[in-house]
Amino acid sequence: MSEPLRIALAGLGTVGAGVIRLIEANADLIARRAGREIRIVAVSARNRGKDRGVDLSAYAWEDDMVILGEREDVDVVVELVGGADGPALALARTTFEAGKALVTANKAMVAHHGLELAAKAEAAKCAFKFEAAVAGGIPVIKGLKEGAAANAIERVYGILNGTCNYILSTMEDTGRDFADVLAEAQARGYAEADPTFDIDGIDAAHKLAILSSIAFGTAIDFASVRATGIRRVLAADIAQADALGYYIRLIGMAEPETDASGSRRLFQRIHPHLVHRDHPLAHVDGATNAVVAEGNFVGRLLFQGAGAGDGPTASAVVADLIDIARGDVGAPFSIPVGELDTAPAADSGHRTGKAYIRFSVADRPGVLAEITAAMRDAGVSIESLIQKGRAEAGSDEPVLVAMVTHEGPESAIAHALELLEGSESLAEPPLVMPLIGE
Ligand SMILES: NC(=O)c1ccc[n+]([C@@H]2O[C@H](COP(=O)([O-])OP(=O)(O)OC[C@H]3O[C@@H](n4cnc5c(N)ncnc54)[C@H](OP(=O)(O)O)[C@@H]3O)[C@@H](O)[C@H]2O)c1
Repeated sequence: MSEPLRIALAGLGTVGAGVIRLIEANADLIARRAGREIRIVAVSARNRGKDRGVDLSAYAWEDDMVILGEREDVDVVVELVGGADGPALALARTTFEAGKALVTANKAMVAHHGLELAAKAEAAKCAFKFEAAVAGGIPVIKGLKEGAAANAIERVYGILNGTCNYILSTMEDTGRDFADVLAEAQARGYAEADPTFDIDGIDAAHKLAILSSIAFGTAIDFASVRATGIRRVLAADIAQADALGYYIRLIGMAEPETDASGSRRLFQRIHPHLVHRDHPLAHVDGATNAVVAEGNFVGRLLFQGAGAGDGPTASAVVADLIDIARGDVGAPFSIPVGELDTAPAADSGHRTGKAYIRFSVADRPGVLAEITAAMRDAGVSIESLIQKGRAEAGSDEPVLVAMVTHEGPESAIAHALELLEGSESLAEPPLVMPLIGE
């Protein structure tokens, strides 16, 4: 067997400790598959004295994690610290400058600095791999870069954030409201103390930006992902969707489009959708992630599994290490950075489809007529309309009006909402959620 692949681990938290446990538990199997031993030689974290449930005594310790990138006895640095900038980025740059490979689970860093880092890795002829950064344990990057490599990918979409999916599916099962379920998820450790990145769709946007670059051969463009999270989804929306035969899921959707002048644009959006109960994504529950990719020859592919957690994420990290041990130094984004297309952001306005629109309105005569008139004037055709109960007599509590539109352009809905802007009948801005059919 060849020389061991010597690795350094920066970050010994959930994922870092998981990687140590996996490498120890499956050492023989990994060595046989990789053709050589994967050997941890050095580690770094913030607090040296912390009990992490793993024995670190055999590994060298560095207080300054950036030094790991410069150590003579290290072939690959594994960055499991997190954060788009700061020490993680400094370590990544140092690692490529020192001519070593880097594996990371850090979607924020890849989404913001992936192109710069990939260019450095390619110049140094070093591997740069980040399977664990998208959908945790699911081998979706590998699936697109290798298994589906012969296809033009026409669309990629899916459930990319386990925290949101857990919250939505718990709301669905229990009929409870968002804030209540979020508080429980935090207490159980399923949601961060600061859940903003998850529930506002930013974490999913990081992952979508990485996926679309690999799927469509375009330069990563996180700034163009339009992200709306799940804060405004009500238990009443979930009940309404259920009555219509749909489940609500936070969906990341990316699709190249050709505009009127024939140039290629890229649509990237994170938004809650109503997913038809016969679509495979409707049945993705709890903290599970799932990605659908549609290739022009293979058809619809579905990747599903655990999107987070120590074991699944470590599985993806170590798969990258095995590839490196086998000598794989392919382009990080499948196509060399200098050859990636730049596709300007596509506007959502000319996308067509059905949509669910929910209004919170004052309970008084004429409100419904005002809404339907705006829809008519904007050319939005309504398939069904539900008014949810009436407020108690004399109460100024708003009532809900929900509707599903016929197939039509999103621009028409946007126009209808513009016509209603500032209306005293509306208690809050309407919530629009596109529908995904079977
Ligand atoms: N958790 C998951 O399920 C999951 C899934 C997919 C991707 N990821 C990604 O994996 C990465 C790690 O996530 P995690 O959940 O393992 O995080 P974590 O449990 O918070 O662990 C972070 C580790 O980084 C260390 N660290 C933080 N700042 C540092 C600094 N300035 N210098 C040196 N070490 C520092 C911490 O040290 P101390 O332990 O000493 O405080 C800790 O060991 C992140 O990029 C995350 O987005 C995580």
